[in-house]
Amino acid sequence: MISEPSVIENTSGRQPGEPVQSAITYEKIPTHIYADAKDASRAVAHEIADLIREKQQQGKLCVLGLATGSSPKTVYAELIRQHREEGLSFHNVVTFNLDEYYPMEPDSLQSYVRFMKEQLFDHVDIPEGNYHIPDGTVPVNKVAEFSRSYEEKIQSYGGLDFQLLGIGGNGHIGFNEPGSLINSHTRLMMLDHSTRAAAAMDFGSLAKTPKKAITMGVTSILAARRVVLLAWGERKAPVIRAALEGTVTESIPASFLQTHRNALFVIDQAAASDLTRMQTPWLVDTVEWDNHMIKKAVTYLSRTLGKPVLKLTNKDYNDNGMSDLLAQVGQAYDLNIDVFNQLQQTITGWPGGKPNADDKKRPERALPASKRCLIFSPHPDDDIISMGGTFQRLHDQGHEVHVGYQTSGNIAVADDEALRFADYVVDFNEKFGIDSPEATQIFRDAAESLREKKGSEMDTDEVRYIKGLIRKGEAKSTCRFVGIPVENAHFLNMPFYETGKVEKKPLGEADIQVVMDVITKVKPHQIYAAGDLADPHGTHKVCLDAIFEAVRRLKNEDFMQDCWVWLYRGAWAEWDIHEIEMAVPMSPDQLVRKRLGIFKHQSQKDGVVYQGTDSREFWQRAEERNKATAGLYNQLGLAEYEAMEAFVRWHF
Ligand code: F6R
Repeated sequence: MISEPSVIENTSGRQPGEPVQSAITYEKIPTHIYADAKDASRAVAHEIADLIREKQQQGKLCVLGLATGSSPKTVYAELIRQHREEGLSFHNVVTFNLDEYYPMEPDSLQSYVRFMKEQLFDHVDIPEGNYHIPDGTVPVNKVAEFSRSYEEKIQSYGGLDFQLLGIGGNGHIGFNEPGSLINSHTRLMMLDHSTRAAAAMDFGSLAKTPKKAITMGVTSILAARRVVLLAWGERKAPVIRAALEGTVTESIPASFLQTHRNALFVIDQAAASDLTRMQTPWLVDTVEWDNHMIKKAVTYLSRTLGKPVLKLTNKDYNDNGMSDLLAQVGQAYDLNIDVFNQLQQTITGWPGGKPNADDKKRPERALPASKRCLIFSPHPDDDIISMGGTFQRLHDQGHEVHVGYQTSGNIAVADDEALRFADYVVDFNEKFGIDSPEATQIFRDAAESLREKKGSEMDTDEVRYIKGLIRKGEAKSTCRFVGIPVENAHFLNMPFYETGKVEKKPLGEADIQVVMDVITKVKPHQIYAAGDLADPHGTHKVCLDAIFEAVRRLKNEDFMQDCWVWLYRGAWAEWDIHEIEMAVPMSPDQLVRKRLGIFKHQSQKDGVVYQGTDSREFWQRAEERNKATAGLYNQLGLAEYEAMEAFVRWHF
């Protein structure tokens, strides 16, 4: 069961918004863990604001080292808010950014100059000329000289009072990629493949992504008097663990911060999820052995020892720091059976409930035997990628299945694909003399703009419309494949998504309204939503927030009294085994069928626009994930299935 998404359990008298602390940690750098990025960013922004004010009182300049990327955006937003609402002035602030792509024109869409202006400088009163960003236009033979003078300039202001950092999935800080030395200075760097793959999101393709960047060196970063590193989301969890708990090594440049006397990691719960104190809290502190913790500990022990749950012995528990569990709760034999039964009861081939069966120990209610199910799909293919097997079963078992496609997904269609469709329409209309000159003109204009489009340009409205149509057609094709009527596919086109850029608008009233409308129309007994918070653009998170808010507002309606919400995970991560409340198995044939359903999304096959750092295709990721979940159940001693889709219930 998961509780409110943004509030973590308070086991130590901690107030909401305060970081989680524990007595002993395995972390070698002070670390504050917050429930979410918003609370965390607020705390960091406060620290920066206090520093700025303190320096103002002393009549001094405040010298800040700043970062770009997705992580600091919420900090900048809070600083802007404080400037507007609380009179925080930046008149004494001087800033130096960590890095810039090379080569890069300052007004290009992806430049860090543009980023900083849009995210901070244009909205506060920092004097023009007080901010510095490495220059992506200096000729290559002048970069070394430029780099030296950048560092000298920092020195001329007395060094950095405060350095804000993000962290790359490979452990980079700034663009100090793995292999960077602790004594490295500001310089031109070759970007790591994984960094370029992540940045390809912004550039449209790997080929258009710069290969180099100018970055402040590790020495320059470590010279700051205070360093605060931010990380949000579970994609960062493995690298956060390595940087905090591992040895100091150039293969994880962020681990160099272990040598700094005044560094702090500020992370959210998801980014902290691989830390020892989160993975195995019983090894770090005394814990309350509630059912959730017992399930987590027993499944962990079983996996670590490679022994099925039912074969764990008292000695296994004692040898692995869990003797207090035995002392407080009972012997291995009873614990094992209890957890085994709980795991067993999560498995069902009847995701909509099994008619005429005792449902006391099943994940879903038997009645009503035929349910209305509403699957929310953030992008047009998440329904089939993430829960295609369950989608098919719900339909085959006689439920009325609807899909709410939340966004158009238009930015993820390659230009060439859109051009193919635009040409098709223009040629078709010409051949048959179709009498709609305006419509033909739209496609003709789109085709022309696509032919002339430069890498850094945004799509025109017409092109975005065509790209959206392509994805809509693919989603309809999946629905036909599964067997649901096309009227049950609801295309919500949530407005927050329609910016034409990777950067989206914040969630607005209109977004929540379209979600409320479709729920009210369908009156579902089951809602399925993507509880996947780790997608690289954050779209899934916004889509989920809209559903949570819509459900909260509707919860007193009669039809909502019968409605259960199930969360599935997207293509990027799976629920932890101890969290899963419903696991729907698939046979080998059902898995192949799901693959064919995913193939309907042809624009997302073979070198997609937003590949991310994972080079596998979506159907491969989905299959490997579903097989891994089944494998895990089997490893814990349960029956061996080919694959499984997993769900967690959200109680609203
Ligand atoms: C940005 C920078 C990089 C990013 C890092 C994390 O100026 O130097 O080190 O901080 O790549 O990026 P996000 O925050 O987008 O995950």
